[in-house]
This record gives sequence, C-alpha cells and structure tokens, in this order.
Amino acid sequence: MAEDSALLMMAKVLQAQKPKSNEMENAPAFYRNLEKALDKRRMDQTMLTLLPDRPVVDFSSCDILSFSKSGLLRMAFMDELAKKPNFVLGSSGSRLMDGNHAYVEELEHEVAEFHGAKTGLFFDSGFDANSAIFSVLPQPGDVIVFDELVHGSIHEGMRTSRATARRSFRHNNVRSFRDVLTVFNETLPSISSGTSTVLVSIESVYSMDGDVAPVEDLLQAARDVLPLGNFQFFIDEAHSTGLMGPQGRGLVCALKLEESFAIRLHPFSKALGSHGAVVLCNQTVKNMLLNFARCLIFSTAPSFPALASIKGGYSLLKSSLGLTRQNCIQPLVKYFFKNILAHPTYYRAEAAGILSIPLAKDWEQRQFLTHIVPINHRGLENHLLSAHCHFAGYCVWPIDYPVVPKGQGRTRVIFHADNTFQQVQHLIWLIMEWAELMLKRDRCGAKPLMAASEGNNLDWLTQVVRTASSTMEQNVVNAKEVEVA
Ligand SMILES: Cc1ncc(COP(=O)(O)O)c(C=O)c1O
Repeated sequence: MAEDSALLMMAKVLQAQKPKSNEMENAPAFYRNLEKALDKRRMDQTMLTLLPDRPVVDFSSCDILSFSKSGLLRMAFMDELAKKPNFVLGSSGSRLMDGNHAYVEELEHEVAEFHGAKTGLFFDSGFDANSAIFSVLPQPGDVIVFDELVHGSIHEGMRTSRATARRSFRHNNVRSFRDVLTVFNETLPSISSGTSTVLVSIESVYSMDGDVAPVEDLLQAARDVLPLGNFQFFIDEAHSTGLMGPQGRGLVCALKLEESFAIRLHPFSKALGSHGAVVLCNQTVKNMLLNFARCLIFSTAPSFPALASIKGGYSLLKSSLGLTRQNCIQPLVKYFFKNILAHPTYYRAEAAGILSIPLAKDWEQRQFLTHIVPINHRGLENHLLSAHCHFAGYCVWPIDYPVVPKGQGRTRVIFHADNTFQQVQHLIWLIMEWAELMLKRDRCGAKPLMAASEGNNLDWLTQVVRTASSTMEQNVVNAKEVEVA
C-alpha cells in the first residue's frame, strides 16, 4: 500500500521532468515560451510539481506540535466559533477600510501581549510580512546586514528595499558579522555618523539547518562596532514559536531580550498549526507598515475563521496541553541522536560520505535541541533516502537548490509532538537500511548520484524509483544497470 502510493508519487515526479516545448510548435507564443522556460527546470530534472496527499508517518510537516493533525486545533477553533455564533464569514475589505473590527484588534493585542511586545500587526502569511518589512522599513542611507541563510521571503523584501546597501554575513558567524558591520561603519558616513541605521536580519532557528542564532553574541558585536547605537535587530521566529521560551513565546522571550528587538515575526503556520503571521513592533513601525505595505493596502483583511483558528492555537499554547506537547519534542530528538549514533552502520556510512548529521556531533553539549534535523548527502542522494522512506510510508523530503545553496542538498527530518519513540526507531532503521544499500552500491562501483548540472547525465529519477523498490540486492544491480546503460 505504502509502496503503491509512493510509486504513484514518484511516477508523477518523473512525468513532470519530460520536456514539453518541442510539442508546442503550433501553440500560441505565450504558452510556447512559458513551456520553454519550464523546460530549463525539466532539463536539470528539478521541475517542481504538486504531489498527491498520502497517509504517511509525519517526519516532515510544519505541524510540529501536531495541533492540527491531532484535531486539537479544530476543537479549539469550533469552541471559538461557538462563542461568536453570529460571526461574519467574509473579510469585508482591507484593514484600512471595512476589514477592521474589534475581534481582529483584540486578538492582535492579545498576541502582542503574550510575546511581550508593544503592539502587533497581522499579515496573511509570514512570507507577506517579511516581504513588507524589508521593502518598507529600510530608508535611503540605511543598510541591511543579514545572515546568509535567512528565508527567501526576506530576500524578496530586500530586492525592492530602498536601503543604500545590503550584505550577508556567514551563517551564525559572529566574527563575520562584526567584519561586515565594521566595513559599513568605516566606509559609509551615514552609518559612522549615526544618521542612518543598520537593520540586522536573523532567524531564531534556521529552517533548513535547525541551528539556533547566537543572539546575545550578535547583539554584543553590534554594540561594540556601532557605539552610537544606530542598529536595530529583526528576528524571524517561525521555527521557535510554540517551541522555545515560556509557553512557546519564542527565543527572544526565552532570553528576556524583548527590548533588544525592534521587529519580531511569528508566523502561525508552523507549531501553531494554522496560517498567517504577526509582526511585533512599536507603533511607529506598525504605522509605516499600515501606510506602505502593499500587501496590506491592496488586499483584504483576514476573515473571521482565519482569526478564530489563530486564537484557538494561542489558547492551546497557553493550556497545559501546549506545554505537554512542547515537552515531547526534546526527548524524541535526543532519542534520535543517541540511537542513530549508536547504530553500527552510522560511522561507516559517514566515513564513506553517504550521510552526515552535523547537529548530531555535539548534541549532548547543546541546551536546546530543535525539531529540525538535516541529513547531508552526496549530490542528489537525498532523493534516494527520501524515496526509500516514502516506500515504507514515512515522509521526509529532499531539500535542494533554490531552497538551500547549490551543492548542499539534504534530507530534512522534522520531529513532531505526536511522533512516537517506535516511529523514531523505525526511521533510524530505514535510514540505516538505506545507508547499507548505498554502501553496497559503492562496492559495486556505482558512482554517487549527482545533479545533471554537475555533469552526470543520469536519469536519476528513474534510478530513484528502481533503487527504492523493495528487494535490496536487486536494486543495487538495477541502479548499476541504469548507470551503465
Ligand atoms: C523562516 C521562515 N520565515 C517565514 C516563512 C514563511 O511563513 P508562511 O508560511 O507563513 O508564509 C517560513 C516558511 O517557510 C519560514 O521557514
């Protein structure tokens, strides 16, 4: 059953890679040219497509506290609807006209208060909020300094920002951060004179690496390099909301650094199990966003059901259920690290370059283990591991460029409150079974599976399907045959 649906899924992925523009000779130029643009992706076998929903063991979704899949959020949402039986279903207009009402204002206030902020402003999504923040707030003369791994939505905003300059620093690297600040301070009079601002952009937990920002060290570096204090910090708390700090208030609240951050983003789409986001800030920033963020001005306000779902999520966070679920994640991640490192195959596979888990290295020294654990691989072999797990009914996704830098493809494992220790044990078993299969492939002389753009012209997706189907010995041979053919 799991094999059949995984095969169907793989077939869909394969189908999506077939070039199309050559069949479009008689089609209107508009569609022909679009298919040509898509063919560039297909040639590189990186064409994305929608995949059918399947019953799987969830080691991949954003529903980290399992509020949504467990039905808990639905119940909290229904309770909220019952309290407001005469709710108006539609949005009625933009927040600046007919879309503003007491419920949305009260909820914004409640959420801001929960996170210890002066005020808050809702957006339809974290993506919209980040795009708005970075396109609207930096003024000419200002500069943006950002961790090289910040989310795509921040880049989207920076692209249209009026900042005089923007520059990244190496991921979570305080020395590199200092260097970038120093260069701006020494070369830009608007910064050295203190008349303009350095806006610093970081995430509390990085979505593809699962590591935590060294927030206090970054703040200290900014104080050291810019003694006039003309810097402001922004933090995206997408992957710490609901998980870090008291009742899941986030990393900033865990560190009691509310006053040090001018802007904080809390999307509701991850642990809160819902959709939308809040920007936490002061009234000046809120007014700027309300006046200049095009996604607020030219779009309608969130509807009552969307707000009731957010309200439901927060009431769960504040309840003992929220705390119990928050407390489930750490033991599961510990169990994973401990047992995968103890597996006899792990170090052999690591030595062969088949996998590595950077976060497993010093897990016992880290105070907080995040729910995001990436597994690194050679080339496109993340697709082989992902397929192998899908065939067993376990969902983990391969992550590639453009989500992560080229050549840094990985498999991302996400732990959830409703995962069990048995499921984690089985996942380890699957990963190690796959690693043994890859070791056998290597012994047969098969080359690592690289991207077409890296010069290896394999029909790698076909190989994924063959390699992942059930009989291991046979697969190793199949994989080799495809390569030789
Ligand atoms: C760090 C980060 N910020 C922002 C977003 C966007 O949030 P949303 O899904 O609400 O658009 C995501 C989601 O992928 C994320 O991982």
